[in-house]
Amino acid sequence: MHADNWAIRAKQEGFRTRAVYKLDEIANKTKVLNKKQYVLDLGSAPGGWSQYVKKKSPLSEVFAIDILNMEALDGVHFFQQSIEEIDRIEAINILKEKFGLVISDIAPNLTGINAIDVENIYELNSLTLETANKYLNKSNGSFIMKTFQNNMLKNLRKKMELSFKIVQTFKPAASKKQSGEIYLYGAYK
Ligand SMILES: C[S@@+](CC[C@H](N)C(=O)[O-])C[C@H]1O[C@@H](n2cnc3c(N)ncnc32)[C@H](O)[C@@H]1O
Repeated sequence: MHADNWAIRAKQEGFRTRAVYKLDEIANKTKVLNKKQYVLDLGSAPGGWSQYVKKKSPLSEVFAIDILNMEALDGVHFFQQSIEEIDRIEAINILKEKFGLVISDIAPNLTGINAIDVENIYELNSLTLETANKYLNKSNGSFIMKTFQNNMLKNLRKKMELSFKIVQTFKPAASKKQSGEIYLYGAYK
């Protein structure tokens, strides 16, 4: 499907972003939304993924953070904070090791200078992975994180493999081919 058609479909189905169809494909393949659980949405604005989680799994409780503001959504606790500050958010901090799913669609601002962008992506992904390890339930938690195809990807995947028993890479149909964007999935079991 052409990129614009995903956007049209999102509008028709009442979703805030076309990005929901990337999560939809990964969630269907990995079955991460089949249960009631706490879900942590990192880099959540404008809210497509949080909306999608609540639609697919209405009994799940979603905690979402972004440096940008996000319009309120029923059943979603939103905090306008950087992921670097997540431990200071009391409502989230008390749920350490209690989340069943952590999803991250965070992307850093790109400078256009490849070496700097690759480094920034790696740093942000490493912090996101650390956060997931801190907040996920170690027995059955799973993690979905956006990253990009570059020369640090192998290292990032290796880092994921140190934490998770299962690690898989996804390039959803709704993700623009030329973007280099991909998603890593990790599960403890
Ligand atoms: C591609 S958008 C997410 C779209 C979202 N999945 C949706 O469907 O609505 C990426 C988001 O990451 C956020 N972001 C970037 N750096 C961040 C950080 N350090 N902490 C929290 N959010 C961040 C951006 O503000 C942006 O809203």
